[in-house]
Amino acid sequence: MNILLTGGAGFIATHTCVELISAGHDVVIVDNYVNSQPEAVRRVEELTGRTIPHYEADVCDRAAMDRIFSEHAIDAVIHFAGLKAVGESVAQPLRYYRNNLDSALTLCETMAAHGVKRLVFSSSATVYGVPDEVPLREDMFCKGCTNPYGWTKYMIEKILMGVAQADPSWSVVLLRYFNPVGAHESGRIGENPNGLPNNLMPFITKVAAGQLPHLNVFGDDYNTHDGTGVRDYIHVVDLARGHVDACAYAAGHSGCEIINLGTGVGYSVLDMVQAFERVNGVKVPYVIGPRRPGDVDACFADPAKAKRLLGWEAKKTLEDMCRDAWRWQCMNPNGYTT
Ligand code: UFG
Repeated sequence: MNILLTGGAGFIATHTCVELISAGHDVVIVDNYVNSQPEAVRRVEELTGRTIPHYEADVCDRAAMDRIFSEHAIDAVIHFAGLKAVGESVAQPLRYYRNNLDSALTLCETMAAHGVKRLVFSSSATVYGVPDEVPLREDMFCKGCTNPYGWTKYMIEKILMGVAQADPSWSVVLLRYFNPVGAHESGRIGENPNGLPNNLMPFITKVAAGQLPHLNVFGDDYNTHDGTGVRDYIHVVDLARGHVDACAYAAGHSGCEIINLGTGVGYSVLDMVQAFERVNGVKVPYVIGPRRPGDVDACFADPAKAKRLLGWEAKKTLEDMCRDAWRWQCMNPNGYTT
């Protein structure tokens, strides 16, 4: 298939590009580089030995999107593009709603106009909100999100469900990611946050590298085995493979499916710190601090549906996640700007 990746220069998208190409697909990238760098695409080309058609454009720009669909015979789209920082979304709700909803709507309208009806969407476990119980299953009722970023994911899910319901020739897969970490084992592509990292693993790698003095552990009074928050960390390459399988599934089915991509195993913040220190032989100094607003005790997937529908399951270990994240950090101390 020829697959368009919106937000194709981002962390999960670059890894997905590599896996799609190694599975025999062709890819086209559109990215406005608001939170990514063209260098990431260049590195994917280097890893795959392929020239990848890529466009610097905003998915909200209908004319630019029409041009891409006119210049390429696109079979399916993976919609990664979107603003994704939880805290920023609380401070700038209108920017998040405008950007994330507008881009999803423009993309769907462009796809419909060009007769492309296979879509895989980057959703998030954030749509489960504050869960009553774990593991989280796709059929559980979502009571509401804790921030505008989460609401945009929730709303786009609803929009896409409506699109697939109205026209049964659409095939939509909503992938609910848990906590993607790690990097490609080459050390050439990885996570490259702007400024101070929001997420745990990039913060740990910067502390281990001496770029930040210590990790702030956000609370140790959660209802978990050691009091720190428990999450379902998934290696980004496993997650990327899930997209390859979701595209194959979309090609053979119609309708709309929600699918969790997680390992089904939860680790606490301190489990992560200890594993990182042990695997990489480095120290990660930390300080216990107050809870971060909106955080939940524990969040991990029931990944059975992904196994059943896609034949997918996570294969990489916590050790792989820690080792590959550290390799990326050591080889690229300043991310893609080295
Ligand atoms: N944490 C710290 N210190 C930090 C950063 C994080 O203690 O500096 C803790 C958090 O409190 C939490 C855990 O590490 O217990 C994971 O936090 P992350 O910020 O890495 O991830 P979240 O689970 O909060 O959020 C992630 C993504 C969201 C997505 C959500 C889905 O960032 O985009 O998973 O559940 F919506």
